[in-house]
Amino acid sequence: MPTIAVLSMKGGVGKSTITLGLASVAWERGQHALVVDLDPQANATMGLDVLAPVFTTNDVLADARPGIAADAVTGTGWAAHIKVIAAERALEHRNVNEGRHSALRLRTTLASLPRSYDLVVIDCPPSLGELTRNALSAADLAVVVTEPGYFALHGAAQALEAVEVIRGTTNPGLRTAAIVINRARPHLAEQQVRITELREAYGDLVSPSVLPERTSVPQAQGAGIPIHAWHSPGAREISNLFEDLYDEILPGLKMGPK
Ligand SMILES: Nc1ncnc2c1ncn2[C@@H]1O[C@H](COP(=O)(O)OP(=O)(O)OP(=O)(O)O)[C@@H](O)[C@H]1O
Ligand SMILES: [Mg+2]
Repeated sequence: MPTIAVLSMKGGVGKSTITLGLASVAWERGQHALVVDLDPQANATMGLDVLAPVFTTNDVLADARPGIAADAVTGTGWAAHIKVIAAERALEHRNVNEGRHSALRLRTTLASLPRSYDLVVIDCPPSLGELTRNALSAADLAVVVTEPGYFALHGAAQALEAVEVIRGTTNPGLRTAAIVINRARPHLAEQQVRITELREAYGDLVSPSVLPERTSVPQAQGAGIPIHAWHSPGAREISNLFEDLYDEILPGLKMGPK
């Protein structure tokens, strides 16, 4: 089960948007996806149209018994093949080290899930605390999100460093799948400079799927529906880019569900 952690060092750059975008591709293709919301803001949970979850990632991390993740899997408003382990505000309390193997709790519990998902996507909070360490320790692939701004290079470097630290300690199998540039406005010369800088520093690791700023993104999220179900030229453009990104980072899923 490919497990992807979506992270960034900066807040508001598009982690939840990319988490929901990958889930939307799975929705469109009939593949079984599980979103794990590790952000106390619960934006991915809301985008999946889940309003009052009973069990959350807070319960999963507080308890940490292997079977607990399966109990916490909740249906979404999207479709039966898209599931979530939802977040809640109290998850904030889990963003500190809680003793031995604290960063391995998510990994331990996800390992006992039935192998029925085609992919698992973990949405991280905007910090490098224990929640993001749990996500990176449980993931096979890290997707680093950045905006094409002045601090992009710096933020991407920090996120990649965090991935390296986890690879060197709790999760030797972890690999950075891509650096994704979000909210691009290609006509701005300043942004072009930043995009070139990122490509010069990280080469092919920078995804060719550069996501533009489109109003359909917050509109679909606010409506609690997949971007693929939002009918506008902007939504179609973004949906196609999410499909390219999905095929880039999950080439094994290109041919449809297993
Ligand atoms: N490509 C885009 N076009 C237009 N709006 C976007 C785009 N990407 C993200 N947004 C909007 O920007 C805001 C922040 O995006 P998002 O919530 O995905 O970022 P985040 O990195 O998850 O934030 P946080 O760090 O708070 O978790 C949201 O309102 C989202 O709808
Ligand atoms: Mg978010």
